[in-house]
Amino acid sequence: MIQSGWPARAEAVKEARANQQEALFNVIIAPERIAVAGPSITDREVELVSEAARHGWYARHSEFNRRFEAMVASYAGVAHAISVPHATAALHLILAALGIGPGDEVIVPDVTWIASVAPITYVGAVPVLVDILADTWCLDPRAVAAAIGPKTKAILGVDLYGSMCDWPALQRLADKHGLHLIEDAAEAIGSRLHDQPAGKFGVAAAFSFHGSKTVATGEGGMLVTDSTELYQRALVLRDHGRPVGDTLFLNSEIGFKYRMNAVTAALGIGQMERVDELVAQKRRIFGWYRERLAGHNHITLNAEPEGCINSFWMSTVVVDPALGLDKFRLMAEMSRRNIDTRPFFSPLSSLPAFADRASSCRFVAPDDRGQAIARYGINLPSAQNMSEDKADIVCGALLEVLETS
Ligand SMILES: Cc1ncc(COP(=O)(O)O)c(C=O)c1O
Repeated sequence: MIQSGWPARAEAVKEARANQQEALFNVIIAPERIAVAGPSITDREVELVSEAARHGWYARHSEFNRRFEAMVASYAGVAHAISVPHATAALHLILAALGIGPGDEVIVPDVTWIASVAPITYVGAVPVLVDILADTWCLDPRAVAAAIGPKTKAILGVDLYGSMCDWPALQRLADKHGLHLIEDAAEAIGSRLHDQPAGKFGVAAAFSFHGSKTVATGEGGMLVTDSTELYQRALVLRDHGRPVGDTLFLNSEIGFKYRMNAVTAALGIGQMERVDELVAQKRRIFGWYRERLAGHNHITLNAEPEGCINSFWMSTVVVDPALGLDKFRLMAEMSRRNIDTRPFFSPLSSLPAFADRASSCRFVAPDDRGQAIARYGINLPSAQNMSEDKADIVCGALLEVLETS
């Protein structure tokens, strides 16, 4: 194994691959662990955080939140934003504010992070899990249409890994059947569809600022909406049912406690000042992978169809099932080479959490397309501290695994 800095190591990997030196390229090991996700934090964020810690109280107690909210609302092109502790809370608030509850069904993709779906159960409604499209890995509008029934109240689309749903098709379905359309844009800040930013689709959307996300505050989320009615309702619900402006603790109903603290909001302001740079780095990382992997027969990468700008939160590969290399084996092989990856989200219908189908969800995915995609997919290192040298090593290692396993 060659022990050296990144550039020398990357050169060695490229050379070994070019010369088909099996003996060398069978030992591709990153000199330091390559992280799968992580933020970029500069002195500017640190400065804002210390300002909030010192001064984000008394007369300035909500100033940082308001600034952060205004920045995200403007970036997403929407009228209102509410900062919350995480996107899970934002989705919960949207569903509650829309009055979705027991006896209702909400259609969601079978392949997503569980946080897209758990809030549906928090309000007592039933998630209806349907198929995703083979290219964008987002809700299949035809599968949605087939799943709509008398109990359906909403469609919740997920912009998976920065890919965009076919929002116009979903909106047509929602309009035709009188349903609410909700955008889970947790992973998609910076993506666009037909020149509209992620967060702009449906009646309301949720962003996540989890530490792994493109804009990161550790934990954090934002509810964004153009609907003043939904905004007003969500403000009350997120503050223990206090009417807006209440200082007398006269709660009008029982709500939730979903406020973001000022220190987190300050970190978010610093990140939003740099959002273009953060999104550009995600796209640069994907570009490095695309250059090295796109022509490979057995690899499918994130899609970016006509009219879409993908912010590539996570650069992702799905390998040909014919290779017989499932995601967990692939991850183990990459890990052995000192490279962290993540599994493609497993279909929710396959998880123990949803084993009791009769009570927890309805599953309508006759093609079961999600299974085939999710079983053979991994997220490649996409942290903000990625470099082209690291991408050389990751790609060298991946191709080595595919060729030698
Ligand atoms: C698709 C999706 N939805 C919702 C969430 C929830 O975000 P948070 O962790 O901020 O609650 C996440 C976060 O990982 C996500 O990836």
